[in-house]
Amino acid sequence: MKTTFYGQSTFMLEAGGKKLLFDPFITPNPEAKDIDIHSLEPDYILVSHGHGDHVADLLAIQKSSDAIIICIAEIANWLGKHGINNAHGMNIGGGFNFEFGRVKMVNAVHSSTLPDGSPGGNPAGFLLHLDGKVIYYAGDTALTYDMKLLADENLDWAYLPIGDNYTMGVDDAIKASGFINCKNIIGMHYDTFPVIKIDVAEAEAKFVKAGINIKLPKIGESVEL
Ligand code: NI
Ligand code: MN
Repeated sequence: MKTTFYGQSTFMLEAGGKKLLFDPFITPNPEAKDIDIHSLEPDYILVSHGHGDHVADLLAIQKSSDAIIICIAEIANWLGKHGINNAHGMNIGGGFNFEFGRVKMVNAVHSSTLPDGSPGGNPAGFLLHLDGKVIYYAGDTALTYDMKLLADENLDWAYLPIGDNYTMGVDDAIKASGFINCKNIIGMHYDTFPVIKIDVAEAEAKFVKAGINIKLPKIGESVEL
């Protein structure tokens, strides 16, 4: 199973014979200027919440790929108003068996307003069962005791925000790794804006000291999960 980083919290995950794109924010990110959003062609787009740094390219990529968007019900309704009628709305605690695997929407502690000011419902994370592996994509979230609900899910990998200010920082992400009982972490949501710039070498050292296998891929780089 392969995942490719496109900046901020944007990842492609290829599994179950399908391409799943998470939280597309590429064209406003100068660091990702070499990525052509129309070359991505996902089959599904998973959206954790409505903030611009997670949905900036959502409509454009959906239009060029005809991808099915998996998101909370309020964002699915908002997409309907933008002429996208194939969104699959879910809500926290609910799971669904898609053709590529199972997706369960889980809690995130954050906020969620869409770029035009529409309410985006609650923010979410995703628990995924794909090709025999269990993956957690946290979205934007604080460290929260609800993460302990994932401790017995036998997670293989987790995508966690580490940039601080808007989400967990490195120290809380290390605590989260303990809460979810997962030692394979992909960091996200850092360095894109001045307030979430981190010392990457120091962050890596902290994860390693905690016994965690940390991956911080460069934009365009893939990691085998
Ligand atoms: Ni956010
Ligand atoms: Mn964000």
